[in-house]
Amino acid sequence: MNAVFPGSFDPITNGHMDVLTRASKIFDHVTVTVMHNARKQGRHLFTLEERLEILRADTAHLSNVSVDSFGGLLVNYMQQQGKGIIVRGLRAVSDYEYELQIAHLNRQLGEVETVFIMAATRWSYVSSSMAREIASYQGDIGSMVPPASAAALRLKFAEGAGQMGGQD
Ligand code: PNS
Repeated sequence: MNAVFPGSFDPITNGHMDVLTRASKIFDHVTVTVMHNARKQGRHLFTLEERLEILRADTAHLSNVSVDSFGGLLVNYMQQQGKGIIVRGLRAVSDYEYELQIAHLNRQLGEVETVFIMAATRWSYVSSSMAREIASYQGDIGSMVPPASAAALRLKFAEGAGQMGGQD
């Protein structure tokens, strides 16, 4: 059985990595797909190409994981991929309400099932938005995000080109 792990990944965190690694042990193949979140429109720190590059580097050691992107509805992507399962991570109860809503929507729109994988509790406080904020003040993000993600965050804020905003 194949799975798709969709998200904004701006950038990927250790929480995402934990969920992805667990998913890679359950499913035959997992595609990490960078998608568009309308709630975060125009508020991304990294371009799509940068996010894909970071993902490729940080997932290179996972042999049954590949990286992709898609600009439309997740259910259309799932259809294009020949169905499969959507994987989403849960950090805390606060994630649940939103995740429940989109899981129901995706089932309604495309009869696609969503499987939730709980991130380890040590990542429950980690989010892309927090990593971006800490990195913007040159704080230490080395324990929150994987290596390529950390390097990209440091470089982005060393360039002074970063913009803040968005959630997760
Ligand atoms: O990492 P995120 O931002 O929580 O991921 C949310 C994402 C990108 C998976 C979600 O916004 C999404 O599925 N976007 C694609 C468009 C879509 O299908 N929208 C309807 C369900 S919200």
